[in-house]
Amino acid sequence: MSTETFDLVLRNGTVWTPGGPVEADVAVRDGRIAHVGSVPVGAGAQEVDCTGLTVLPGVIDSQVHFREPGLEHKEDLETGTRGAVLGGVTGIFEMPNTNPSTTTAEGIADKVARGKGRAWCDHAFFLGAAGDNVDHLAEWERVPGCAGVKVFMGSSTGSLLVEDDAVLARVLAAGSRRVAVHCEDEARLRERRHLVEGGAPVTMHPEWRDAETALRATKRLVALAEKARRRVHVLHITTAEEIDFLAGHKDLVTVETTPQHLTLAGPEAYERLGTKAQMNPPIREAHHRDGLWRGIAQGVVDVIGSDHAPHTLEEKAKPYPASPSGMTGVQTLVPVMLTHVAEGRLSLARFVDLTSAGPARIFGIAGKGRIARGYDADFTVVDLKTTREITDAWIASRCGWTPFDGFQAKGWAVATIIRGTIVMRDDELQGTAMGQPVRFQECYPV
Ligand code: DOR
Repeated sequence: MSTETFDLVLRNGTVWTPGGPVEADVAVRDGRIAHVGSVPVGAGAQEVDCTGLTVLPGVIDSQVHFREPGLEHKEDLETGTRGAVLGGVTGIFEMPNTNPSTTTAEGIADKVARGKGRAWCDHAFFLGAAGDNVDHLAEWERVPGCAGVKVFMGSSTGSLLVEDDAVLARVLAAGSRRVAVHCEDEARLRERRHLVEGGAPVTMHPEWRDAETALRATKRLVALAEKARRRVHVLHITTAEEIDFLAGHKDLVTVETTPQHLTLAGPEAYERLGTKAQMNPPIREAHHRDGLWRGIAQGVVDVIGSDHAPHTLEEKAKPYPASPSGMTGVQTLVPVMLTHVAEGRLSLARFVDLTSAGPARIFGIAGKGRIARGYDADFTVVDLKTTREITDAWIASRCGWTPFDGFQAKGWAVATIIRGTIVMRDDELQGTAMGQPVRFQECYPV
């Protein structure tokens, strides 16, 4: 050790290794973790004093909408990833409901090209399933930078929709990557649309898109996935009933929930935030939120994704139901969830499992998700003792607002490090946007 030199040393932090927290230095060479332990003073070309800080594996947000191409007035890859690293996120998976939708290999390659030199964090893109691309999914899901396949069973922002079982069965029969699914039953959404048609208070949003709408789609998906023996990932679970149901199907099904569904509840959130609280599937009553926390405690939930889905304030000000669904989240994921850690709702070990190890396991990410020798040197360095208020002014998203404006966060990301490069320190961006496509085990190398 004594003569070795490194590009970067994180000194004296509490480091979350796969075995738990250790007081150690972390040494980085060529973008990878070279050593966790004691590193001689002066061995790093660059050193960061992490005394009193906690060094976590880089947080991966596996569900964001960054709107490029076509909807750049809401967000683009530069602003979206800027928000990510300011919030302590080192990697993101972006959704295909852009304009045009990302439904081809060329669409994925186009997004990868757009990210070059503009994305602040590592990234991958979902391939949207649509009726007309099913025969190509097996081939196109393997292109570099593709995170897997995304299905909308219920319509939301954009035009992507796979509403009937026959097409969904064909999607599940094609290819082998993880299929991430938005579970709301389109037929039931249509049947119940009259509840809000022509105008209604936004408190009706979870009535129209009710718990049964979500559960029905989730049950249909799981039945088809079991028939096809295909691994599926149910995005943004919102109901206690789905948690209980999915607990019986963990051999094939992984589960995501979001910080906003774990934190906000109706009707209070709708009364306080109006259409800012409107998203799909909806924020629901407190007993569903309690059910999601049971899912976290019991291990049914595998991952936390933010479902960052920006819309401008002007768009959000339209009268419900003309107002679009979605809220920002990539920048607030870490402080909001660390606050739940501080308040005892989950352990820090579980946070790491849900935000680093979980995404790596589900999507077969190569070289990320844990602090271990040989892995990418991605770190979310946090101060667990600091208290900070989340404000709209802090939000880098082009739409400039967060449902968590005024939230008192207990815990904050103070540095974001990606493959050994410090990209954020003390709320400031550092250097240039150097994000790269995430590598995946099933289609390595990219
Ligand atoms: O609320 C939502 N907004 N849910 C989605 O599924 C899509 C998202 C968006 O893209 O706006």
